Amino acid sequence: MKIAVFGTGYVGLVTGVCFAEIGYNVTCFDIEETKIDTLSQGKCPIFEPGLEEMLRRNLANGRLSFTNDGKAACRNADYFFIAVGTPEKEDGSANLEYLEGAIAEIGNNLNKDAILVIKSTVPVGTNELVKDKLKAIIPRELRVCVVSNPEFLREGSGILDTFHADRIVIGADDQETGRAVARLYEPFDRPILQTDVRSAELIKYAANAFLATKISFINEIANLCEYMGADIGDVAKGIGMDHRIGSQFLNAGIGYGGSCFPKDTKALEKLTESCNYDFKILRSVIEVNSRQKQQLFYKAKELFGSLHGKRVAVLGLAFKPHTDDIREAPAMELIARLLDEQADISVYDPAASGKVSQVFGSRLYYAENADAAIKGADAVFIMTEWPEITEYDLARYRLLMRQPIIFDGRNCYDVAEAEAAGIAYVSVGRKAVNVQVSLKR
Ligand SMILES: NC(=O)c1ccc[n+]([C@@H]2O[C@H](COP(=O)([O-])OP(=O)(O)OC[C@H]3O[C@@H](n4cnc5c(N)ncnc54)[C@H](O)[C@@H]3O)[C@@H](O)[C@H]2O)c1
Repeated sequence: MKIAVFGTGYVGLVTGVCFAEIGYNVTCFDIEETKIDTLSQGKCPIFEPGLEEMLRRNLANGRLSFTNDGKAACRNADYFFIAVGTPEKEDGSANLEYLEGAIAEIGNNLNKDAILVIKSTVPVGTNELVKDKLKAIIPRELRVCVVSNPEFLREGSGILDTFHADRIVIGADDQETGRAVARLYEPFDRPILQTDVRSAELIKYAANAFLATKISFINEIANLCEYMGADIGDVAKGIGMDHRIGSQFLNAGIGYGGSCFPKDTKALEKLTESCNYDFKILRSVIEVNSRQKQQLFYKAKELFGSLHGKRVAVLGLAFKPHTDDIREAPAMELIARLLDEQADISVYDPAASGKVSQVFGSRLYYAENADAAIKGADAVFIMTEWPEITEYDLARYRLLMRQPIIFDGRNCYDVAEAEAAGIAYVSVGRKAVNVQVSLKR
């Protein structure tokens, strides 16, 4: 049996490598030639813990291969997994052009009956469109069934999440095809939920919208804490101990980013327009997040007046730790604003600096470590909770900075310790110490 995976990004590559790991014969196809060259040499173009090692093992044992030859990828494939990007269009809806490209490639090269599994996050109804598109291209004697199989892995723990998924959702209108895909997943031994296609498509958006809601909710409570003199750490703990609520996704901070929550919440909002439904909560979640991303910057502006010529260090650039993904990362928005203010910016991230330099080039100083980034700074912004950043010794800020002012978007330090250390410390949902700032309303 042969599996072809289309798209070798965070989802497609992890999927292809993990399928090879459990014993399937997998060919991964991507339109980016350099990516395929890199992968064929056993090098991983993205930062994903454990992935490169597993990739090399399966290249060596011959179960995994990479190609940018569409015909070769499609030849004799029994299953096609589509994991191409579905980024945000200007109007907030999902851009399906990469999906359409992949479908055309498959349709034009198919040489036997196959099952096409859509892993990419796509608007409800897309699987039906894909089915119609394929029907129009493939020879009449061939049969392709389309199945929705949304992905829930998290960047930074993609392999772990694949082998220990909470659930595998398989949406098929034809039960037997759904069961065939379920059998493929049996070696993972994870709970499988079989649904109709439209429900599977919606599960993905609903899951991300719910998690984004939790984040925006706790950020609103954090803001209330600042107005009311409460502490978000204690409040979040207190509500999270209720098992009906749960403690995950209750870390107040600088808002959600990444390649999924921002685009998926907006795509779902756009989808609701098509059925004339006003999804009020979702609209607020998006609005709250956009305001939250600006809070630290506004506090700094209030404190400094002008940031022109100020030496500012940004610690953490990726949208979350253990990944190099900077899509919609709060740090990227902050840097753009600081540049507008003509601040003098140094940045540090254990994995994402290379990607950031492709965006901002020589306008930033890319430090080799946190020490080098904060040396001589007037202010530090903590944007990503990498362990080496959260565990960074508080005393070193005092030692290395021109004046110790920290804007901590991840609540890394104990407020009382920062106060005792004589550091001007501004975090989220907790009292600022050794300094006075207020929230943007
Ligand atoms: N990144 C995540 O954590 C995550 C989690 C769950 C679901 N998803 C969803 O999975 C999908 C993929 O996300 P990603 O983060 O892996 O994207 P990505 O941008 O990292 O990778 C997409 C890949 O698809 C390739 N591609 C584009 N057109 C192609 C074509 N016609 N044929 C073959 N390859 C093509 C691109 O070159 C790129 O390598 C998206 O719909 C996303 O919403 C992502």
